Amino acid sequence: MHSSSSRSRPLAPNSGAPAPGVADATTAGHVTFESVRDHPRVRIYVRSADQALAEIGYTEHGERHVGLVAHIAFNVLKRLGHPEREAELAAIAGYLHDIGNAVNRDHHAQTSAVMAMQLLADMGMPDVEIVQVMGAIGNHHENDGDPVSPVAAAVILADKSDVHRTRVRNPDMIRFDIHDRVNYAVERSFLNVDEGAKRITLELTVDTAISQVMEYFEIFMTRMVASRKAAKYLGTSFGLTVNGNRLT
Ligand SMILES: [Fe+2]
Ligand SMILES: [Fe+2]
Repeated sequence: MHSSSSRSRPLAPNSGAPAPGVADATTAGHVTFESVRDHPRVRIYVRSADQALAEIGYTEHGERHVGLVAHIAFNVLKRLGHPEREAELAAIAGYLHDIGNAVNRDHHAQTSAVMAMQLLADMGMPDVEIVQVMGAIGNHHENDGDPVSPVAAAVILADKSDVHRTRVRNPDMIRFDIHDRVNYAVERSFLNVDEGAKRITLELTVDTAISQVMEYFEIFMTRMVASRKAAKYLGTSFGLTVNGNRLT
């Protein structure tokens, strides 16, 4: 929906056309988040991607994960005063960001982006929005991705914040690897967006009897670096709290 709120970002001056991602003059004809989430092809892609990752021993990447990433990415941009449509594009990118795992874990960000392009074009999304979504999806991975737009930054922050007990598929603790242990130890994770202080904080509640905080850093350092970069792109700082203690 078009927003006349003073908190919305201004359109690009003298462009004669809406800036990328802010084509929010009307919601009529927009490809909505719900229509993407409920598309039969998307259901198959998301479930197949999760199944493929289950086969190779990865944590949960199904409807719970991508639904959460979509929700958080939307909220990050909304809370920071970005236009509604831009936040919705972040939600769509968040929901589709891992579908490429159905093809291969390697380069899945880029594969997901190309799969999303075909889907969204078939659904009638304009190219100016499709490239926004593709850029965000293709840059979500911490090893080879960068916050190239607000939509991309929001998806990075949302994806990296999903660390939680429910992502561990095999409850047999004796067979846990370090990823399972760290995920299982996290009883609560919440991405707190403080728009007033311009600060985004990942708040974790960790059972240190299961995993030491050092283990968290061992495997999540690159994620934290990616989150800090994304937060900076959005004009905010990034912080981490574990059991109420601020670590960064
Ligand atoms: Fe991914
Ligand atoms: Fe993901």
